[in-house]
Amino acid sequence: MLVLGLESSCDETAAAVVEDGTRALSDVVASQVDMHARFGGVVPELASRAHVANIIPVVEEALDRAGVGLDDLGAVAVTQGPGLIGALLVSVQVGKGIAYGRGLPLVGVHHLEGHLSAVYLEPDPPPLPHLALVVSGGHTSLIRVDDHGRLVELGATRDDAAGEAFDKVAKLLGLGYPGGVMIDRLAKSGDPTAVGFPRAMTKKETGYEFSFSGLKTAVLVHVQQHGIPEGQGLADLCASFQDTVVEVLVRKTRQAARDHGLAHVQMCGGVAANSRLRSQMSAAGAEDGFRVHVPPPRRCTDNAAMIAAAGFYRLRRGAHSNLSLAADSALPLPAAIG
Ligand code: KG4
Ligand code: ZN
Repeated sequence: MLVLGLESSCDETAAAVVEDGTRALSDVVASQVDMHARFGGVVPELASRAHVANIIPVVEEALDRAGVGLDDLGAVAVTQGPGLIGALLVSVQVGKGIAYGRGLPLVGVHHLEGHLSAVYLEPDPPPLPHLALVVSGGHTSLIRVDDHGRLVELGATRDDAAGEAFDKVAKLLGLGYPGGVMIDRLAKSGDPTAVGFPRAMTKKETGYEFSFSGLKTAVLVHVQQHGIPEGQGLADLCASFQDTVVEVLVRKTRQAARDHGLAHVQMCGGVAANSRLRSQMSAAGAEDGFRVHVPPPRRCTDNAAMIAAAGFYRLRRGAHSNLSLAADSALPLPAAIG
């Protein structure tokens, strides 16, 4: 079955056609990064307006590239939430329009369930159950994926998400938006041991919870005391910050894999594109005996193929939405479990 996926929860307008939840026939993303960059972050009203302008051409391109028409589709999947409400509304309304116009089933998808489903588009996806580390701009969670849509959140961040920490630190260092990619790039030539930042929530009793706001403040204090370094110093600072985030993410993930006896770990969300996180997690897996599955970087960040894949599995479980489907900026994860 072909599912058209639509995603507009933040600053990417995306549409994709996915076959049977496993094969992306097309995957189109119109990024608004350049527009928001000069404001140092996403401006919600501008995002909504750009989604309105982009969504129809993006859908048309997704159908064209897949070589299919609306009549070939079996269903429409849209991100229902969480995200920016004005942004979410755009693909929810367009999805409803297409579903109504063509008499197709419509399914609302939780954005995180989408990220978790990106890995099923890879040739060798992890078996179920497995452990998932979701690390994006809005979320940092360890989730036990017992089955499609049967998700148990083991722990999450108490404050900032990992991606948020990358973005805020990048802004502080004058590296522009979005910051994760810039820090990743600069850190490659830096010394991760140059600056000793505190690793929060590493005591056993903190379980699988994370905290990154203290680290952000530690970087701020460092910059207030020493100024923003240039050249090698900047690379060292980026590498030290990045390594602190990565070390905590890896430490908690390997603990959870051990505690739950899971031999497969997937990482998803924008920060899963981070080169240091990818290499350190693989090294930990090799040592502890778990296999690491990560989608390619473009499927770690927001896209619609992951939404179409998640939608396919939701439909297969008998879950579907009707035309009263409402975008929900704070949609809780359990509500997405059909
Ligand atoms: O999943 P995503 O595209 O959007 C959300 O659902 O939030 O994640 C975006 C986040 C941003 O915070 C961005 O800075 C971060 O992912 N990111 C990275 C990298 N690429 C994107 N963080 C670290 N290293 C990267 N290479
Ligand atoms: Zn996302």
